[in-house]
Amino acid sequence: MCGIVGYIGNREAYPILVNGLKRLEYRGYDSAGISLLGKDQAASIYKKKGKVADLEAYAKTHDISGDIGIGHTRWATHGEPNDINAHPHASENGHFIVIHNGIIENYSHLKKKLEDRDYTFKSETDTEVLANLMEYIYLKGRVSAEIAVRLALHKVIGAYGLAIICREEPDTLIAARRGSPLVIGVGENEYFLASDATPIVEHTKSVIYLNDNEMAVLGRDKMLLKTLNNDQLTPKVQKLDMEIGDIEKNGYPHFMLKEIFEQPRSIKDTFRGRISQEMTEISLGGLHTVMPDLEKARRIIILGCGTSWHAGLIGEYLIEDLARVPVEVEYASEFRYRNPIIHKDDIVITISQSGETADSLAAIQLAKEAGATVLGICNVVGSSIPRETDAGVYTHAGPEIGVASTKAFTTQVTVLAMMAIMLSKKKGNITSSHYQNLVAELSDIPKKIDNILAYNDEFLKLARLYKDATNFLYLGRGYSFPVALEGALKLKEISYIHAEGYPAAEMKHGPIALIDENMPVVVIALQDKSYDKIVSNIQEIKARKGKVIALVTQGDTTIREMADHVMGIPPTPETLASLLTVIPLQLLSYHIAVLRGCSVDQPRNLAKSVTVE
Ligand code: G6P
Repeated sequence: MCGIVGYIGNREAYPILVNGLKRLEYRGYDSAGISLLGKDQAASIYKKKGKVADLEAYAKTHDISGDIGIGHTRWATHGEPNDINAHPHASENGHFIVIHNGIIENYSHLKKKLEDRDYTFKSETDTEVLANLMEYIYLKGRVSAEIAVRLALHKVIGAYGLAIICREEPDTLIAARRGSPLVIGVGENEYFLASDATPIVEHTKSVIYLNDNEMAVLGRDKMLLKTLNNDQLTPKVQKLDMEIGDIEKNGYPHFMLKEIFEQPRSIKDTFRGRISQEMTEISLGGLHTVMPDLEKARRIIILGCGTSWHAGLIGEYLIEDLARVPVEVEYASEFRYRNPIIHKDDIVITISQSGETADSLAAIQLAKEAGATVLGICNVVGSSIPRETDAGVYTHAGPEIGVASTKAFTTQVTVLAMMAIMLSKKKGNITSSHYQNLVAELSDIPKKIDNILAYNDEFLKLARLYKDATNFLYLGRGYSFPVALEGALKLKEISYIHAEGYPAAEMKHGPIALIDENMPVVVIALQDKSYDKIVSNIQEIKARKGKVIALVTQGDTTIREMADHVMGIPPTPETLASLLTVIPLQLLSYHIAVLRGCSVDQPRNLAKSVTVE
């Protein structure tokens, strides 16, 4: 949440910052701001409520020169989104200019102490408190900006990713991290700073990931990396495995549509190097060291938030079904606060696209303290969760920019399917022919997704019919139940239509009361072991005049007779069907949101990377 960019070098900072903010806008978009500083100039600050485009329109009539700068795109925590609360925040006498991602928990205590020393505040933000605290220490102690920042951070409780400039030190940009991600890009006599690598990749592929409790003091041609206790560190420069094309729309009107259509490719990337050429073996290199623990695990606990939690539910069905290991799936936010029982021989798997979700990170800490082996399934390489876990698997979906998760979900489920199939073989739970059949079927999934995507126009037609509905119900059984939850989540996230996902059999315990001729009900009704039951559910809906949109196995004629609309899904084993059934639901939500004029890639109030609790 909140995107940070920074630049120090010999180029004009403004275009670098504004392009960077556009890349990071998925992290928050209720206001944006920049501050620029040159060798012989006073620092300028421009900030605006709204999107980066609003900031750009405002800034272009002002002086935007300067070769040091910081920029921010905000997801409000303290104070409503407006021009005043937008970042950057300057200290009272203008010595420090600060942007911040995170939450300073003891800000009211610090604010009171500063007010007692005659400091006044313009905004309601915790960040302005930080700027004033740094300035107070700087002036009172007559210390350098670096020392003032470090001493101030010792007084702070909370989470932060910070970019700081000091008016008197126009050759220095300071960054500090605890809990919120920061990456430094290393160029030729220039450095870039960002919340993730997407603003950096077009300038350099050499990056340094800042760890918690570290700060970097960046000059034009030198950098110092230190702990917040002032111990000097040797920077570890890594190469970015990302291309600029990965983070552009490439002709699609929205990132979400691009990412939906990328799924056949992203799932292949998830397989790459992990399924043998003869399609007989699965090998997940990232789990080799923990394989013995996995094989003897008494229980697996899967944690995640949002869409990643839905992937976790499918993981539960897969692992219990195939590998016969008991699995519990929990929201990371609930797990961490409810005093859960964690055994040393438990395996905890945390699923996260961003690898930065604050609740998931905190839950990992709890599991580690209890002695469990903690694994990660993440997309963003180098993010915090892969670094905090004992082992894990990257999904390799490539950057996901649309706030509503699509390809991250299907690649997470792909990894979970590979884990379940691999574990079931190691534990001797499936025959080798069943194993080989599942591996071959998994390899066929991208082709089958292509087959569904070819019907995109049909989903648009359907969207035209239902775009004005005020409620939607999504039903499924077994593996299709988490898909129903995910379909409902997609719709509410981007089109603001109320939607609920339910196990189909539970409909009669409540939601059936809502069904009338105005209620579209999406039913996932494949020819699997609960087919007859779900056919009955469809009849129950039709008896109450509900509108049924059914996802059926291609060739199904029974449901075609009853439902208002049917969409055919290529036949596939029940265990893998969620990778297919979710695609029509993504497309339906997408088209409904576009037709309703919603901001598809940046839905209101949401952010992609939720680094606050
Ligand atoms: C936010 C995003 C969701 C995502 C969830 C968990 O709410 O909008 O799309 O599923 O966070 O994020 P993670 O990065 O941990 O998967």
